[in-house]
Amino acid sequence: MTTQTVTLNNGVTMPILGFGVFQIPQDQTQAAVEAALEAGYRHLDTAASYLNEEAVGAAIAASGLPRDDLFVTTKLWIQHAPTGSVEDDTLRAFDTSLRKLGLDHLDLYLIHQPLGDYYSEWRAMQKLYQEGRSRAIGVSNFHPDRLVDLIEHNEITPAVNQVETHPFHQRVGDQELMRERGVQIESWGPFAEGRNNLFTDPVLTAIAEVHGKSVAQVVLRWLVQRDVVVIPKSVRPDRMAQNLDIFDFVLTDDELKQIATLDTGDSLFFDHRDPAMVSSLGSRRI
Ligand SMILES: NC(=O)c1ccc[n+]([C@@H]2O[C@H](COP(=O)([O-])OP(=O)(O)OC[C@H]3O[C@@H](n4cnc5c(N)ncnc54)[C@H](OP(=O)(O)O)[C@@H]3O)[C@@H](O)[C@H]2O)c1
Repeated sequence: MTTQTVTLNNGVTMPILGFGVFQIPQDQTQAAVEAALEAGYRHLDTAASYLNEEAVGAAIAASGLPRDDLFVTTKLWIQHAPTGSVEDDTLRAFDTSLRKLGLDHLDLYLIHQPLGDYYSEWRAMQKLYQEGRSRAIGVSNFHPDRLVDLIEHNEITPAVNQVETHPFHQRVGDQELMRERGVQIESWGPFAEGRNNLFTDPVLTAIAEVHGKSVAQVVLRWLVQRDVVVIPKSVRPDRMAQNLDIFDFVLTDDELKQIATLDTGDSLFFDHRDPAMVSSLGSRRI
């Protein structure tokens, strides 16, 4: 079990390595999370839009682990209230997530997408934070300009920005800006979900062989060495254990330089500024 943590801008500590549950089918999520907790994960990352918060909650309850040993993140999906109040809907969405998770507070609540009326969402999140209902609040998928704008016009600076970060999209400059602004970077898709043949990439494979580790372990180690919080997903207990076992080796400066050459500077998934994607995500209701 990893005890390595990062300290967020409000003093809350967050395990640097956690377990993500995106795309785990609802009927497999409870077993997967139970196996992850058994393997030693104490940091879980879900979202309202993953439609598996109840299963995550069931696994937490079944584990019998003390609440304080866990760090649980969920995310607010885009709220649509053309004639109502996005702030009120955000507070309701939070209550729904908490009920599904079977918890009385969250450790981190994130705005999932920089779309819609996320300023109203943030005002509600600030309220939730001030009431102690979430120990930290943050955002996800915010490009630097949107992040800075949110910071400039609000009382509370997001503690975390969870963004696509992997060897083919390294975001070194974005991380630096976040650091200057007191925002912790968190990687989603650390393996790029296997895209670009990540698991057989020759540079990563050669480094893995030197250390007697897998490519997955090299990627996670590289992120952790950069102080990036990381939440790999797997439904396989052997891989869950492997992905936790990254604290007994160190990548050299030369290896870090080799990995730096893999950066394409671009997303392997989609651009949150692409109008077609803005429209597609924005029209999704959960
Ligand atoms: N905020 C956002 O918009 C956003 C978007 C995407 C993801 N996320 C979060 O980030 C988490 C991680 O990202 P992700 O799930 O998209 O992708 P990922 O972690 O990059 O990749 C998961 C894939 O890698 C495989 N895998 C895992 N460990 C492996 C290993 N040691 N060796 C070989 N293959 C391995 C998994 O297969 P098996 O399961 O078969 O092992 C799965 O196909 C998500 O679960 C979610 O919590 C957030």
